[in-house]
Amino acid sequence: MRKSDPTNPFRYGALAFDETFTDREGELKELKADIRNGQDVVIFAPRRYGKSSLVLKATRDLVRAGVLVAQVDLMTTPTKEKLAEKLATEIHRRIASRLYRAREAALSVFRGLRITPTITIDPNDASVSFGFEPGRAPADVDATVERLLALPGELGAERGRIVALVLDEFQEVVEIDPDLPKLMRAVFQAQPQVAHVYLGSKRHLMRTIFNDENEPFWRSAKQFELGVIAPELFAPFIAERFQATGKRIDEAAVAAVLEQTVGHPYATQELCYFTWEVTPRNQTATPLHVDEGLAGVLRSEHAHFSLVWEDASAAQRLVLAALAAEPGRPYTEEYSRRHRLPPATNVQKALTGLVRRELVAKTGGGAYEIVEPFLGEWVIRTVDPARDEAR
Ligand SMILES: Nc1ncnc2c1ncn2[C@@H]1O[C@H](COP(=O)(O)OP(=O)(O)OP(=O)(O)O)[C@@H](O)[C@H]1O
Ligand SMILES: [Mg+2]
Repeated sequence: MRKSDPTNPFRYGALAFDETFTDREGELKELKADIRNGQDVVIFAPRRYGKSSLVLKATRDLVRAGVLVAQVDLMTTPTKEKLAEKLATEIHRRIASRLYRAREAALSVFRGLRITPTITIDPNDASVSFGFEPGRAPADVDATVERLLALPGELGAERGRIVALVLDEFQEVVEIDPDLPKLMRAVFQAQPQVAHVYLGSKRHLMRTIFNDENEPFWRSAKQFELGVIAPELFAPFIAERFQATGKRIDEAAVAAVLEQTVGHPYATQELCYFTWEVTPRNQTATPLHVDEGLAGVLRSEHAHFSLVWEDASAAQRLVLAALAAEPGRPYTEEYSRRHRLPPATNVQKALTGLVRRELVAKTGGGAYEIVEPFLGEWVIRTVDPARDEAR
């Protein structure tokens, strides 16, 4: 490869930022205002719609404007000790050391924790991290976590600064400890000035946490629904990214991409990634390149979709195959007959399972459709339901 060869300008999987991030202007404005106001927010969206990227972009902008933001991904904190470590490290790095320049002063805010942490300073970059040994009495661990959760609010109030705490993959809170939500909620409730931002990739668990009236977080935060990126806003981004690397994409090809992905952020970047790859240097992508790109996407997702298919029951496979061919209402007699579906109760059960796995969703009009990007296309091209043995 020549050094001057341009590299693919599309990215999927990692967080989108800088030039891989597009639009979301209305959402960004609203989210930034909520955080400044100390309003708690929970962000709901299907998988890979760009929740984490949106919050990252919003908080980066806010940090530049002097807001202090600590962020913990609960997927990385399987125990309360680990949670305490990440919280302490983040609070130190993003809040305490910005308020107190002197190292001793920044560390002093962690004095008086029920469990004394071990503090490690990285000799390379002088970054500080905290450790809490496992095996301490649960009450001491709880007291330590509680104190850490309260710290951002106290520090912000002391210095008159706006503070936010972002908790990603928040649905994991119940896995860490079923009693943790209660403890957290009690602390957060007493901190109306701190904005807590919750997001998570498992939508049905997030819904339970925030919409079940028996749960401590019931109606505790503003609900923020994130949709797709409107195709007319995505289109100029795609064209511009091609151009930035010396290639072009024609309008029909952009339309073909967006027809396939309907503005799903991850899916659009993925299909564009493959389309860009098959477009020769200095040339213009056409719908033929998009077709070739789509074939590449399906090859690369084959293992994943095969697993999805293997995990599906016989009735679920029939419903998936039917919906791939035609979105609609599988439990109605007419649809069911057309697609030779099993009895309505089985279909209903299959649908419930598919919706729960976020493979299928009900549309505004009440019909069902496959929402996992490219799965419908894969089913059509790969699976012959007549040959697929019922299990
Ligand atoms: N604003 C955006 N502009 C362009 N692409 C985006 C944008 N937001 C997200 N994406 C694309 O979507 C992918 C997923 O984004 P992100 O990880 O932020 O989503 P998520 O909703 O947090 O996902 P998960 O449900 O897995 O937690 C990114 O890798 C990127 O390709
Ligand atoms: Mg995420």
